[in-house]
Amino acid sequence: MVCINTAMTDEQAHESPSEAQPASATGAAEEPPTVTDSAATKDTASDGASSDDGLVVRIQGLRKVFKSFSWQRERGVWRKLRRVLRGRVQEVVAVQNLDLDIRRGEVFGLLGPNGSGKSTTIKIMLGLVAPSAGEVEVLARSPHAVDVKHRIGFLPEESYLYRFLTADETLDFYGKLFDIPRQERRERANRLVELVGLEHARNRQLREYSKGMARRIGLAQALINDPDLVILDEPTTGLDPIGTTEMKRLIERLKGEGKTVLLCSHLLADVEEVCDRVAIMCDGELLAKGPLEELLSLRDQLEVRIDRADKAFQERLRRFLESEGAAVAAMQNASDSLARLFLRLIDERFPEKIPERVRGELMPAAPQSTPEQQEQAAPAP
Ligand SMILES: Nc1ncnc2c1ncn2[C@@H]1O[C@H](COP(=O)(O)OP(=O)(O)OP(=O)(O)O)[C@@H](O)[C@H]1O
Ligand SMILES: [Mg+2]
Repeated sequence: MVCINTAMTDEQAHESPSEAQPASATGAAEEPPTVTDSAATKDTASDGASSDDGLVVRIQGLRKVFKSFSWQRERGVWRKLRRVLRGRVQEVVAVQNLDLDIRRGEVFGLLGPNGSGKSTTIKIMLGLVAPSAGEVEVLARSPHAVDVKHRIGFLPEESYLYRFLTADETLDFYGKLFDIPRQERRERANRLVELVGLEHARNRQLREYSKGMARRIGLAQALINDPDLVILDEPTTGLDPIGTTEMKRLIERLKGEGKTVLLCSHLLADVEEVCDRVAIMCDGELLAKGPLEELLSLRDQLEVRIDRADKAFQERLRRFLESEGAAVAAMQNASDSLARLFLRLIDERFPEKIPERVRGELMPAAPQSTPEQQEQAAPAP
């Protein structure tokens, strides 16, 4: 298989039927329309959200400033007070001017480097941290409304679970907090333990769990109340590639059930695979937001994958493209993903370690043969 990346000339790009938008005055490629500036952030239409209908999260003008001062480190009340009065309390602006809409049924990725304000935004949505300014609505209510909390599942970046409880006891405990009847608690716990692949360890205390196992039970706990909005802060931290793949499939499954998922992750390839829309933050500011394919689209470049493309064919193709005036930026053999290679190797040696639901999806698809080739390959009658 060969993969060609062709940079078209401006003229060719604008001839393309998919280029409905007019070229910019400079003739350069159009900027993705969703990259925010102060005006664009105000315009919800810029990221495709044309109305407030179906919004699960609505954040406007959010700002959070932390006062950074360690009372414990200062000795004596007078010294502490003196420091406060002299304005020696350091301020950390964690989030500023943030506008965000998350729609029902979508998988939304909140991205950004360390310390960019993702977890703070999530904590404000959950009513765990008070905003300094701005409006936040979750499921059309204030984040402090108790009935809203019943409809949210949250996997924090670090799970604080009771170390001396087993997986079953943990799920039963959280199920009780949500007033789920006993029988249903059991059924949900069974389903979730299986879903996160912890059947073999369900009766072991969590203090004995590995990091990845702890992450899995944290996820099951986040889903025990069958939430409408699932917030996952770095869900794949500590998970092996099998667990990471299962997490992605689970997110897709939750979406299929009509749930809304907010995902924070540094694994951009995974985000790319599962998210419908993303927002990218840095130092508390929103840099860009919008549908993934719009943000990623290189409007004047074209990518083609061709099966059964031997060297001679590739050479002929390159000559043809160049004769048509195309600047061939890249032409190389397509490659498999590291995740697939990893899984294939484990599957060859330890097939029992790969759950059925993962194996089927991760093996590279065999190249599809054309009907003519199938005819040729068929034995003569
Ligand atoms: N309780 C707090 N007190 C003071 N500063 C805080 C507090 N919580 C967060 N901050 C600061 O707010 C900023 C944003 O932190 P936040 O945890 O939201 O980042 P993040 O995007 O989730 O980062 P990461 O990718 O590392 O999880 C950081 O500068 C952090 O130090
Ligand atoms: Mg964080």
